[in-house]
Amino acid sequence: MAEITITDRIDGLLGQWGNQPQNLLQILIRVQQSLHHIPATAIDYLARKLGCPQVQVEGLVGFYSFLHVEPRGSYDILFSDNITDRMLGGQGVAAALAERLGVALGTTRSDGRVSVGYTFCTGMGDQGPAALVNGYTMTRLTPDRIGQMVELIEGAVPVTDWPQEWFVVEDNIQRRDILLQTALPDGAAIDRVLEIGVDALLQEMDASGLRGRGGAGFGTALKWRPCREATGADRVVVCNADEGEPGTFKDRLLLQRYADRVVEGMTLCAAVIGASKGFIYLRGEYLYLLKGLEAELQRRRESGLLGRSIRGREGFDFDIEIHLGAGAYICGEESALIESLEGKRGHPRVRPPFPVTSGYMGLPTVVNNVETFMAAAMIGVQGAEWFRSRGTEESSGTKLLTISGDCARPGIYEYPYGVTVEQVLTDCGAQDVQAVQVAGAAGSCVPPSEFGRQIAFEDLATGGSFMIFNQGRDLLEMVENFAAFFVHESCGFCTPCRVGTSLMHKRLTKVVVGHATRADMERMCDIGALMRKASHCGLGQTAANCILGTMDSFPALYAERLRSTSFEPAFDLDASLQEAREITGRDDPGAHLKGGGV
Ligand SMILES: Cc1cc2nc3c(=O)[nH]c(=O)nc-3n(C[C@H](O)[C@H](O)[C@H](O)COP(=O)(O)O)c2cc1C
Ligand code: SF4
Repeated sequence: MAEITITDRIDGLLGQWGNQPQNLLQILIRVQQSLHHIPATAIDYLARKLGCPQVQVEGLVGFYSFLHVEPRGSYDILFSDNITDRMLGGQGVAAALAERLGVALGTTRSDGRVSVGYTFCTGMGDQGPAALVNGYTMTRLTPDRIGQMVELIEGAVPVTDWPQEWFVVEDNIQRRDILLQTALPDGAAIDRVLEIGVDALLQEMDASGLRGRGGAGFGTALKWRPCREATGADRVVVCNADEGEPGTFKDRLLLQRYADRVVEGMTLCAAVIGASKGFIYLRGEYLYLLKGLEAELQRRRESGLLGRSIRGREGFDFDIEIHLGAGAYICGEESALIESLEGKRGHPRVRPPFPVTSGYMGLPTVVNNVETFMAAAMIGVQGAEWFRSRGTEESSGTKLLTISGDCARPGIYEYPYGVTVEQVLTDCGAQDVQAVQVAGAAGSCVPPSEFGRQIAFEDLATGGSFMIFNQGRDLLEMVENFAAFFVHESCGFCTPCRVGTSLMHKRLTKVVVGHATRADMERMCDIGALMRKASHCGLGQTAANCILGTMDSFPALYAERLRSTSFEPAFDLDASLQEAREITGRDDPGAHLKGGGV
């Protein structure tokens, strides 16, 4: 049988996805999946077929961390390396696997069989150590399982034949409230808007006080209404399922067990704003959810809940496509997400115009979080009062919290807004707590004196992340992990963030190794302030939060490690002369700089 060439494969993908440049990223992801890299021939062929410059395709490959021009191993293994993964022993199992396979971490073995490395949070903080194997999630890795993985890899057993129980992602719901415990019959929210009309539905949404669950907390009706009123040939609904905030893993549950309600919410939104097109932007780390989501969309098409003439209503046409992300946290930012949907690098846009007037392909677009769409569907059926029966004045309803770190019962907890940190800690069985990091890497590090604070937009706002650190932990390890995360995830578009994240990380590393001085602390304050003021988007504006916040709330953490001198260089000249001393065989006093370093 004739061998399938790279161009044959790409022709197949173009047939499936269409010859539009906006599908370029989706095609590249599939090329990466099947060939374990993006060969130069593929780049060249795709550029010609899609009529775009070759450099544009190369730029795209360079931007997304799951795409590679150099071949990765046939078994491409990435361990989750959020701080809570480390606390579960992730680095230990990663090192053990690499050692047993004879490959250095972060590299590909010379025979091309296997690559082992790290990625940031894969959304499994409650059931780690976790890893992605050829993109698919493995949880609860143990030394024993590592041994079995080595045998399977050396025996060239395809990943599809590995034990299926290794790939189980548990729901891990530890507390339910109105959102998770109230039923929603198929099509009920759609029927309601068709029955009462769009204006009445929007009033209900307004009255409910629903605010976005993705972090920023923008009023949902405040977003839907202007989009409906904007001028444009069509409208677009986008579900932000990028869930990249370290320590957040609630959307994975909603997409796995409540996808019907999420899609119902998107369809409700489509009815309100008048959209015919929808997207679910699914983070690449959640590849394991793709099949189930596609099946749910198909089921709804067959039930008349998606597609043409929904619920028999002439002219109500709406369908949804799933686009995968490829390992870029910035693509969770809504305008970067839209760029990515259009097949481009995920650079945040200059606003205005805002997506509600000019989003995907210039069309008015609503972008909402997964949980927001689900809540909207429930409000559509149960009404505003039902929703307002929980929460505070400014934060109505409930919030899904994802709890990880030092506690007896990590997992997903649904709480009414207004719950205190103290209450959450009691419920999940946390003891001897030193700090709680709320809202991910850019959030707040809350000390015990503030455990009376509330989870609410008016106090501690969070997309869900709630990471617990007991007294035995070195909090600076957490800070360093987050600082490194931002260096990696800065999209590089603007200087304050691109350079600032690196400078902050370098100075922080000096603190960690005990080489920093007061001058370094002052410098971090200055750089952090500049990043907040001058960065183009939310990532850069908040990337210094963790360092500045812990300097403020946990000053002893830094003071203990500071050198008393007012200046300590980052570069140690005396240490770097060591190699020269070894080559020349000199170790007399004249071969050393006085006092070491300059
Ligand atoms: C760097 C960055 C990453 C973000 N990541 C996400 C994300 O993963 N999921 C999400 O829903 N919102 C994320 N957001 C917020 C989105 O920009 C946007 O506000 C949100 O999707 C709107 O939906 P909502 O109103 O329902 O919250 C992120 C924002 C920034 C600045
Ligand atoms: S702030 Fe950072 S992530 Fe945002 S645009 Fe600038 S470089 Fe990119």
